[in-house]
Amino acid sequence: MKSSVNILGISAFYHDSAAALIINGEVIAAAEEERFTRKKHDASFPIHAIRYVLEEGGLGFDDLDSVLFYEKPFLKFERLLETYHAFAPDGLISFVKAIPVWIKDKLFMKQRILKEFKLLGGRKVPLFFTSHHLSHAASAYFPSPFDEAAILTIDGVGEWSTLTISHAKGNKLTVLREQHFPHSIGLFYSAITYYAGFKVNSGEYKLMGLAPYASPHSEETKDLIAKIKSNVIDIKEDGSILLNMKFFNFATGLTMTRDKKWEKLLGFSRRAFEGKLMENYINLAQAGQVILEEVVLKLAITAKALTGSNYLCTAGGVALNCVANSKIRESNLFSKIWIQPAAGDSGGALGAAYAGWHILKNQPKPKAVEGDSMKGTYLGPEFSDKQILKILKKLSFEYTLYNDFGELCSTVSRQIQEGQVIGWFQDRMEFGPRALGNRSILADPTYPDMQKRLNVKIKNRESFRPFAPAVLEEDAHEFFEITGNSPYMLFTFPLKEAIQKELPANYSSLTLTQKLNQYRSQFQAITHVDFSARVQTVSQTTNPKFYHLLKVFKELTGKGMLINTSMNVRGEPIVCTPENAIQCFIQTDMDVLVIGNFILEKSKNESFLSTRWKTEAFTPD
Ligand SMILES: [Fe+2]
Repeated sequence: MKSSVNILGISAFYHDSAAALIINGEVIAAAEEERFTRKKHDASFPIHAIRYVLEEGGLGFDDLDSVLFYEKPFLKFERLLETYHAFAPDGLISFVKAIPVWIKDKLFMKQRILKEFKLLGGRKVPLFFTSHHLSHAASAYFPSPFDEAAILTIDGVGEWSTLTISHAKGNKLTVLREQHFPHSIGLFYSAITYYAGFKVNSGEYKLMGLAPYASPHSEETKDLIAKIKSNVIDIKEDGSILLNMKFFNFATGLTMTRDKKWEKLLGFSRRAFEGKLMENYINLAQAGQVILEEVVLKLAITAKALTGSNYLCTAGGVALNCVANSKIRESNLFSKIWIQPAAGDSGGALGAAYAGWHILKNQPKPKAVEGDSMKGTYLGPEFSDKQILKILKKLSFEYTLYNDFGELCSTVSRQIQEGQVIGWFQDRMEFGPRALGNRSILADPTYPDMQKRLNVKIKNRESFRPFAPAVLEEDAHEFFEITGNSPYMLFTFPLKEAIQKELPANYSSLTLTQKLNQYRSQFQAITHVDFSARVQTVSQTTNPKFYHLLKVFKELTGKGMLINTSMNVRGEPIVCTPENAIQCFIQTDMDVLVIGNFILEKSKNESFLSTRWKTEAFTPD
């Protein structure tokens, strides 16, 4: 019998470490390290994730054919050295600080990785290094439904590249254009994020959510855009950019922006981290978003011109900007677009593994299929009812077991209709930053106060951020201007005009809170201030359980749509295990938690919660 070819991909040491396993070209498992260690964006060597993916594949470390690391550490070191040289003596302080870290951790990365391998197995498994953007490109193309496509990868920075345009045909991937550090649209967006008072590498999503509270056509926003474009960023016709490095500190310093320069240009100072959200910062968010969209669209036009392809694949952190993605989609440059759901650096682990199989091993890409090869990105751990029951018994939790899944869905649908907030934990955990119905919090979007309730009471996050709807795939067009599907929440779509409520004439002069509270549609909680929504279409084939719940909810209420937000509290990763889910249930005002076929209700566990929870229940064994 021919033995299988087992390839492990790893990303680590920057942020969002992860591991992915493919066997004979088929993705078997993938997970972020943060889900196991409970440290958000954990950058450490993904030992837990590796152990998990090997276990899922029924393999020991010694059964691996090869391991691929998602970037080339020596090239990255070279970039660091050259950058310090080019900007000397500006970078002396951070040079002194950074070099010892690099020497210790990064320069000897290969030895460090090999040392970690020794903990996993005895055999010397061959280790290869792919490049950062090739990992992104491979993660975007190889699992896609296409056998020929243009590929666009855009992020902060890899080794030297900050964006690439490639063309893929079969298993051949050719890089056609690349832009090098420090000229990075991803870092530009991160700098705006930073100046607007949000955290770099995670706050970009908040900036995007904040942007529509300002109009792109307001005088203030237009003025900011003009100032930034004439002083900070020079956008070329082909989408490449030049940053005026006098405004940035990321190349040599330990912060993103040179605040004095920006302050003089914009007329207002940097917002303190999570400080008061003044109008200025909202306009700045809109300006940053408009500029990002202009660049992304120009790059898409260049990708089309260079490849002539009708298909586009994208990945890299900027591909998580669903508003910019929608601008490409609406341009109709490509007949189909596929975006890697783990578009950030965790997805690099998967891309590296694919590169190992298709490029290193020269294996053909299988014939294109409808959908893709990501298995709905449900590639993480799952727990059987037997395992769940053991945990519930250990905690002496009151529960109801449903042997009939249809009955469970009827009960849960009624609870949602009554306005209760439900934790929904089923099957395999999602790979990538979005919960797509297996580690989700669900609620009825028609309650006018549900956005506020979820943001403040459950997620403990900023009230301006909207929630995403999960909708039956076949019904999506009834509510949204959508053609095709959107299984990974990577695009926004406008609500149908017929269900948009008219805004008052003085709307543009309202404050953020007043705009937020303005009644916009019968699906208030998922309708953003610009009447857009970040839609997830749910299909029977990819997630039959979530689909069934939506179907039963539709039978009860007439509408197959739910709010779907990730099950986690602010600052924590999405839950992985039943214990994590129960902990989240306790720490928030969630009313009901469904784990597998068990329903846990807070009202039935009150005495347990008040007397035992924080003291005993989660003390480690
Ligand atoms: Fe990246």
